[in-house]
Amino acid sequence: MKLMEVSSLTKSFGKHVAVNNLSFSIEEGHCVALLGPNGAGKTTTLEMLASLQKPTNGSVSFLGVEKGDYRESIGYLPQQPVFFPWMNAMEYLVFMGELSGLSKAKASMRADELLELLGIADARKRKIGGYSGGMKQRLGIAQALIHEPKLLMLDEPVSALDPVGRREMLELMKMLKETTTILFSTHILHDAEEVCDDVIMIHKGELAITGSLSELRRRHQEDVIIISADGNLDEWVRSIENWNVVSKVIANNDTIKIYVKNAEVARNQLLVEIAERQLPISRFTVGQTSLEDLFMKVVGK
Ligand SMILES: Nc1ncnc2c1ncn2[C@@H]1O[C@H](COP(=O)(O)OP(=O)(O)OP(=O)(O)O)[C@@H](O)[C@H]1O
Ligand SMILES: [Mg+2]
Repeated sequence: MKLMEVSSLTKSFGKHVAVNNLSFSIEEGHCVALLGPNGAGKTTTLEMLASLQKPTNGSVSFLGVEKGDYRESIGYLPQQPVFFPWMNAMEYLVFMGELSGLSKAKASMRADELLELLGIADARKRKIGGYSGGMKQRLGIAQALIHEPKLLMLDEPVSALDPVGRREMLELMKMLKETTTILFSTHILHDAEEVCDDVIMIHKGELAITGSLSELRRRHQEDVIIISADGNLDEWVRSIENWNVVSKVIANNDTIKIYVKNAEVARNQLLVEIAERQLPISRFTVGQTSLEDLFMKVVGK
């Protein structure tokens, strides 16, 4: 079932069109990644969906109701959440719960549950001002979940965290997606690939690609052989460009990416050449293109 359907969503700031005619839908129970480089329009899109910005044009329907007030059914974690540093986590969550219309007792119960779920229960009585970035991010998610929303929207939940914090946040999202529909933005493709079911890729405010991750993989994934060398292989690289099995070669400093039509045939041919010519190879990897390659193709880099 469609939880949210977005049609022709557009936002202009004066002459600048930040989001242009964006249409997509979100299936209930799915985890959806909104992808795009810096300035693509991710935050503007999410803020419109969260009713924090008024669209210049277009509409959003929630559970089949167009132009309804669905704010109670969504939870939102902004890209740069602001907390009251003098409050402790428990006070903050109860306050946010009451703002969302919960009774004090219900808000306290939910706050307890969420602090436990998000792994910050031990710090429940500590002032938020002393929290680490990762702890604040968890508290931000707890705040977004306090009223048991149908849709959880997270704007760049992992980008600002260190590698450990990022790993923890990704594991947390994997757990949350079991029970809640999630729409999250990111420009880190690897993270998206790890947790999402569906992808909405935007570029310069416009929809570039959308679909399920598995379908995108099937449609766009290519075999690629990556070779690194300790010397200059420019001449050899030019010669392999003409092979039947090779569709494209991209050489970047000492790393050569060879997109091939048949990984096995290409691998055998390349290994024979490398041995015959005694090329100074330091790495030879056979793999498949990632979401990142597709993204780069879309943004034209
Ligand atoms: N209030 C505003 N006034 C004018 N221009 C704005 C405003 N908000 C956003 N923009 C512009 O709209 C475009 C999209 O911005 P947005 O913040 O939505 O991008 P983003 O994809 O979230 O980027 P990032 O990855 O850096 O967070 C940018 O060109 C930005 O400068
Ligand atoms: Mg943003």
